[in-house]
Amino acid sequence: MASILDQLTIEEKASLLSQIVWETTELPCEDLEKFLLADGPAGIRRLKEYFDEDIYNTLPTTCYPSPSTYASSWNRELIHELGRHLGIEAKSMDVDVLLGPGVNLKRSPLGGRNFEYYSEDPYVTSELATEYIKGLQEEGTGACIKHFAVNNQETRRMTIDVRIGEEPLRELYLRAFQKPVTEGKPWMVMTAYNRVNGEYCGESRKLVGEILRGEWGYEGTVVTDCFAAHDLKKGIQNGLNLQMPGETGERLAQRIREYLEAGELTEEELDRAVRKNILLSERARQARKKVSYDREAHHAFARRTALESMVLLKNRSGLLPLQESDSVCVIGEMAEKPRFQGGGSSHVNPWKLETFLDLLRRQKPEVPYAAGYQEDQTTEELLLEARQTAAKADKVLLFLGLPEIYESEGYDRTDLRIPEAHEELLEQVSQVNPRVIVILFNGAPVEMPWIDRADALLEAYLPGEAGASALLELLYGRENPSGRLAETFPIKLSDTPCYLNFPGDPNAVRYSEGFLTGYRYYDTARKEVRFPFGFGLSYTEFAYSGLEVSQNPQKRLLEISVQVKNTGTLAGKEVVQIYVEGPDPKGGRPVRELKQFAKISLEPGEEKRVQMRISEEDLKIYRPGNSGRWVLRNGCYRIYAGKSIAELCACAEIEITSGIWPEITENTCLGDMIRIPGKWEILQEELAAHPRSLEFLTLCRNDNPLKISMGGLMSFQNLKRTDPSLKDDDIAKLLEKLNAEPA
Ligand code: BGC
Repeated sequence: MASILDQLTIEEKASLLSQIVWETTELPCEDLEKFLLADGPAGIRRLKEYFDEDIYNTLPTTCYPSPSTYASSWNRELIHELGRHLGIEAKSMDVDVLLGPGVNLKRSPLGGRNFEYYSEDPYVTSELATEYIKGLQEEGTGACIKHFAVNNQETRRMTIDVRIGEEPLRELYLRAFQKPVTEGKPWMVMTAYNRVNGEYCGESRKLVGEILRGEWGYEGTVVTDCFAAHDLKKGIQNGLNLQMPGETGERLAQRIREYLEAGELTEEELDRAVRKNILLSERARQARKKVSYDREAHHAFARRTALESMVLLKNRSGLLPLQESDSVCVIGEMAEKPRFQGGGSSHVNPWKLETFLDLLRRQKPEVPYAAGYQEDQTTEELLLEARQTAAKADKVLLFLGLPEIYESEGYDRTDLRIPEAHEELLEQVSQVNPRVIVILFNGAPVEMPWIDRADALLEAYLPGEAGASALLELLYGRENPSGRLAETFPIKLSDTPCYLNFPGDPNAVRYSEGFLTGYRYYDTARKEVRFPFGFGLSYTEFAYSGLEVSQNPQKRLLEISVQVKNTGTLAGKEVVQIYVEGPDPKGGRPVRELKQFAKISLEPGEEKRVQMRISEEDLKIYRPGNSGRWVLRNGCYRIYAGKSIAELCACAEIEITSGIWPEITENTCLGDMIRIPGKWEILQEELAAHPRSLEFLTLCRNDNPLKISMGGLMSFQNLKRTDPSLKDDDIAKLLEKLNAEPA
């Protein structure tokens, strides 16, 4: 390595700082090979020709379900396998690094790239993304986690300044990246376009320098998003290695030379940046191998992924599953022209796209069909034909959703409605046939003012190229739905927590909702939603009992177990979700947060004790300040096991004392101090020499609430003014005692 660096001129080093879509610069140095990047994350977007302006002119590849879809699988093993499948396909196309996964949280359901992201929750995101990275890299394909960080909207994405508090930044938006980076160890990290609290991500001292490189010890290559490099010098100094694509050749070399000559950048800093790219080139070279794979098997895996991910949202009177003998008709153009992926850089050219109508007609050639609409338009004739078709069958399979143009990278949605034509079609069809089963294609939540018109609703999301056969299996009950929502479906847009602050003004977007985003808000504010986070039906039923929780202080974790029984008549899968309510939920924090989950299979009547662990790290909160740090708070924790955030089936409590209590200062009031075990005794002893103050302390245990408040509201600062015997020195000593760790 040292020898390669030594051989390079400043110009050559400079050229290694920039990538020309899609390969890195070639150098006259035989030990250094270019590496090739391609977009993910639901398939390999390998352009046929480099520099093709048509970003959709790509080599055919397996189109897997979109991340919003496969996140609903809540299945770590499946996502690991998905990573492996993608890793193999990338290798077969000579791709060294796949630009994925994207792990930004879904702050608003309007976000244009929500289909490309996992969830509104950092825990489920980070668990699944870590597996995706591990699977991909096991096959020798590097992962590039993106977009670091807080890229939650497309509107003005290249300039917007995200103004966010330190705690939600750390505990939500960065937490989604933390485990994938520290445990998954992706070869690359892509910085986001936007600014965070004033700094562009690609050059951010805080995000890249202090957190990614410093606290998380990230050793790989940091690359900017496309055309997102601003101050390259500052970027390099904070840990950036590559601009994608950026200035190249003469101009770049000239700039680097000027920085060096002016002493604004040292050669050591330059070498440090370049070294990572040389290492990446070396890593990519070693991992290269000729790979071929069984396309049919990968297509089948795309189907498996879709099967595990689609979410049954409604099933009135057990309308589903269908019986083979049922008389059904199919309505909706999406049955023959499916919506199966999102637009923009993740768009791939599917190898073999299935369509539902075609598959069903192979089994039942006579099935009546009417298009009902064309994209987002309809006509009286199309509606009439749909009504006549619906009247001919017992049950209607009605395909609705968001046409492709509604959801893409590059812009956000402006409302949450499906096209009026689709709503009108449902209205008219349900008038002639009330047994309507809606199948929805969309990458993100939609409003459903029409929900009462649908007896059953299957959320197919964007299910990839094999979505149609997965649908068929689920609708006919050959497989049991097991997807669960990884995001909330609100009743209406104005219910969403960032409604008043999305997408912000031309300069900035303020995350005033703080921690209270997604279900954290709806649950804490007790706001009704259409479908809650974690929700999804099955054709069978599950019952929970016997939740047990204990602390293992040596291993710094909580051990949890709960009994789950399949009480129905069909085999099925359940996603056991564990939510934790920490101490002090009224401090502006969410009441409950997801901290663990497990997906299990149960035969009819079968019962299992599900064992899970929650690491203390996951229970910690971030305490900001000059020496900001993660802390485990002492106090009572409530652990809930349930089927969704809104259906918690069992609860257990545990007292944690191995963490820390809130710091007591001269401004802490007595009422709060005495709530901490042991502090009453200390105060009583120490204030014995200060009878006036002791009187106030004693009032705290009076029976009369007014008197309690007279004592409880006093702080040392207040006491000092009424009790001349209490001096600054006494208070300082008292604080020391009160804050000392118990022996
Ligand atoms: C997107 C990235 C993508 C890159 C290269 C950008 O516009 O934000 O996600 O990897 O383009 O296509």
